[in-house]
Amino acid sequence: MAEEILSLTGDNQDKVSQLPLIHGTLGPSVVDIRGLYAQTGYFTYDPGFTSTASCSSKITYIDGDNGILLYRGYPIEQLAEKCDFLEVCYLLLKGDLPNGSEMREFVTTISKHVMVHEQLTKFYSGFRRDAHPMAVLVGVVGALSAFYHDVTDVTCHKDRYKAAIRLIAKMPNIVAMCHKYSTGLPFIYPKRKLGYAENFMRMMMGDPCDEYVANPVLIRALDRILILHADHEQNASTSTVRLAGSSGANPYACVAAGIACLWGAAHGGANEAVLNMLEEIGDVSKIPEYVAKAKDKNDPFRLMGFGHRVYKNYDPRAKLMRQTCHEVLDELNLNNDPMFKLAMELERIALEDPYFVEKKLYPNVDFYSGIVLRALGIPTEMFTAIFALSRSVGWIAQWDEMISDPELKIGRPRQLYRGVAKRDVKPISSR
Ligand code: CMC
Repeated sequence: MAEEILSLTGDNQDKVSQLPLIHGTLGPSVVDIRGLYAQTGYFTYDPGFTSTASCSSKITYIDGDNGILLYRGYPIEQLAEKCDFLEVCYLLLKGDLPNGSEMREFVTTISKHVMVHEQLTKFYSGFRRDAHPMAVLVGVVGALSAFYHDVTDVTCHKDRYKAAIRLIAKMPNIVAMCHKYSTGLPFIYPKRKLGYAENFMRMMMGDPCDEYVANPVLIRALDRILILHADHEQNASTSTVRLAGSSGANPYACVAAGIACLWGAAHGGANEAVLNMLEEIGDVSKIPEYVAKAKDKNDPFRLMGFGHRVYKNYDPRAKLMRQTCHEVLDELNLNNDPMFKLAMELERIALEDPYFVEKKLYPNVDFYSGIVLRALGIPTEMFTAIFALSRSVGWIAQWDEMISDPELKIGRPRQLYRGVAKRDVKPISSR
């Protein structure tokens, strides 16, 4: 709620705007600039949204300076320790953690929707066998909108909830099929009695001729990856989902837009980029050369998995993922594997190097999640698809929150035009 007024004066002292300050529960207050243009004729300029709150939200809170991440008020450390991914899904969607009977009902509802329409499986064969899984995922999730368009009235709370349930329930199956298609192996149907992470691992890594035997340490590690990536307030892909959804578009089409945005190496593509980088470095002896490249202003190379736009001291998810990473490497006896030794050495050097320390470039969650996924035997090109699987709940919860917001407006940023001023078209013969 507006409580104070900030006065802004223009360059010529001729335009004064009285702008309300709005205070949230936590974090910096915001200047409500909605009346600025009407009052002064000025726009604000903030490419990359480094100083702009694009919406108000009750879902996730990040304090980047102090390494704090809360989902609906609960610290990520406690959620990672005490909850499983589906409890976190319930929390993000509904606002609070479920009790026992609420959770049983939620799990039953999710399990009813784990199958996909058999026709959806035909979409896969339209893709080249060697297509990147993210390309396939954008297409197949977008295609869900064709299956559930007429039955999804985005203004109806019940329909939005059903869309959320369908998405959360079907994503493991859809992502697993991306992998199976690329390997030429048959799709494996979900098993309702299995937990969410185990079901996904079985569908993706299982062989239909054999019984899939799950290792609880590895299933727990995957579940933790899902929890840690479930939401992250107004990041690029979530903002994309919100912007797409602000026009009233079908939710699955909006999520497909979010998946496209997530694919980039500066966002969700980082965990894949980490492994590609480690492969490129190849040997511990080459680390100083690559660290020097990362520090060289004239070289575009960056150490993938280091740095974060918001976390400038440490990424709390990285701290938890680091612990999981060591548990998995111990469980699988991989501490002496050359790739993992290389990763650990790179982490050590970058944490001590003054360039990284001064610029506060700590390993982020994707540095460790990439290593864990690799240790689980998951192919590198599937990493971002798994990130998309976990983030789906965040996207759909944020989309739902946006649509139910009485202040919803279609997203329509303005610009600072620096192109040619008005000119006349000459006939082609005289151009
Ligand atoms: N290696 C080397 N130098 C770096 C790195 C890096 N990974 N990241 C930032 N810098 C330098 C950068 O060159 C700049 O130096 P200077 O001030 O001398 O010009 C300074 O640090 C600040 O960088 P920036 O690009 O202005 O920072 P940003 O907040 O815009 O970018 C980032 C954040 C995550 C895009 C960036 O750190 C990066 O590209 N990291 C590698 C990719 C990566 O791991 N991304 C995953 C992010 S976590 C997953 C998610 O939440 O989506």
